[in-house]
Amino acid sequence: MEQAGPGVAEIVGTAVAVDLMSSHDGALTSRHGGSILLPVSAGPGSESRVDGEPIITVRRAGDLSGRVMVPGAKNSVLKLMAACLLADGTSEISNVPRIADVSIMSELLEAIGLRLESPETGVLRVTNPGDLTPVAPYELVERIRASINVLGPLLTRCGHVRLSLPGGDDFGARPIDMHIAGLEAMGAEFKVSHGYLEARADRLHGAEVVFDFPSVGATENILTAAVFADGVTRIDNAAREPEVVDLCRFLVAMGADIEGVGTATLTVRGVERGSLRPATHRTVPDRVQAATYIAAVAVAGGELEMVDAHANHMDMLLARCRDMGVDLEPFTTDGVEGLRVSCSQRLRATDVQTLPYPGIATDYKPLIITMLSVADGVAIVTENLYPGRFRYVEELIRLGADIRTDGHHAVVRGQPRLSGAPVRAHDIRAGAAMVVAGLAAEGTTTISGVRHIDRGYDDLVGRLAAVGADITRVED
Ligand code: UD1
Repeated sequence: MEQAGPGVAEIVGTAVAVDLMSSHDGALTSRHGGSILLPVSAGPGSESRVDGEPIITVRRAGDLSGRVMVPGAKNSVLKLMAACLLADGTSEISNVPRIADVSIMSELLEAIGLRLESPETGVLRVTNPGDLTPVAPYELVERIRASINVLGPLLTRCGHVRLSLPGGDDFGARPIDMHIAGLEAMGAEFKVSHGYLEARADRLHGAEVVFDFPSVGATENILTAAVFADGVTRIDNAAREPEVVDLCRFLVAMGADIEGVGTATLTVRGVERGSLRPATHRTVPDRVQAATYIAAVAVAGGELEMVDAHANHMDMLLARCRDMGVDLEPFTTDGVEGLRVSCSQRLRATDVQTLPYPGIATDYKPLIITMLSVADGVAIVTENLYPGRFRYVEELIRLGADIRTDGHHAVVRGQPRLSGAPVRAHDIRAGAAMVVAGLAAEGTTTISGVRHIDRGYDDLVGRLAAVGADITRVED
């Protein structure tokens, strides 16, 4: 294995120094004096308070107003980075968000043998020297779910892979049975020992893979594995999320042969190992971060122009938000899409259920429940993807929300106001929802567990403060 390049993330105790600014030699390293310390979770489900952990304080302010740039999508960029395992040479990914998960994924890929550097803000250059160590160790895999995305590329590229079994998140177990069944249908053999999943296949072959459920991660792993398989692989009931489409486009730019991009049936004609070439690609904008700014305006009032928000990636969400009384108007300026969001009245309650794309994403749900907490009326929210994903509700109740949960359902009785209190972020999206709730709460809301927010949000505090929110990040 070639020596990995300079570390993209420097571990400082339990904090990771993340800086997507270039250093003098172009390496993506921490920058003394100017780096942003993004604390990362000690692991899924970790509850212990990290010494020196930052806190966010939010006070209810008046209307929000101004312009917000929507950053690139976490759930895409991590997969694009993993896809660089497939092609020797240097690929370039732009619109990379400054988030802790990018640093963790970088560490994992560096351990496998890739080199990562950031020549300028928001750009990652990923070099694959061809000599890879197909092992994903526990210490890195347990920190982000997306580490499972190295399985398909490493297996198809190297013929074998040893991957620590991924753990759950705070919102429950997340099995990988569909990933394994799909790869087995393509000829892979699996065994589990000492917490590691070992997969082997000299060369995968094409297969018909039919998912019971359109899993995002399983679609991405079968797709990437099929790129070098012998023959044609058809994935039925494939996930259609914009981030899956983004990965398909990157793979096609590398020379993969994929049909049906954006549909529920993906057909991949395998090409020879070694025939993919590096590519340049811009990460799709983050629809969940965009939804966070919509929710902020919905509860605080005002008007924001969200630049690089793609309305057509959020159709169902926008329909429900309009039902609630939020005004949303797509626009295009100089070829860049955007969305104008405004709200001047109290929200109206409306029932919502989460579904695979193009349905309402489960990742929006904490934001939606927060909006409904201050809406006029009663709403039922149904979770169809992760049964246990209601943990943040206890925190909203501490802020005065009236919410009851029962299995997959939450009944939300809207209150005129929430009241500020200390609350904890239990995962990325729940953390953002706490911030939004703070905008709707009288007095001060302090949010701990900020390391979860840092995993997926690119300067949420700075972006909200710039449009008039009374919000501060206190470093310890
Ligand atoms: C991705 C997103 C996550 C989002 C989710 C659903 C990333 C890094 N994460 O997660 O933010 O909430 O899509 O939109 O992109 N399942 C199985 N067996 C499997 C695979 C999945 O039972 O083999 C179940 C899961 O437990 C879950 C559901 O299917 O209940 C959805 O999972 P999946 O679509 O695979 O989500 P992820 O790719 O893990």
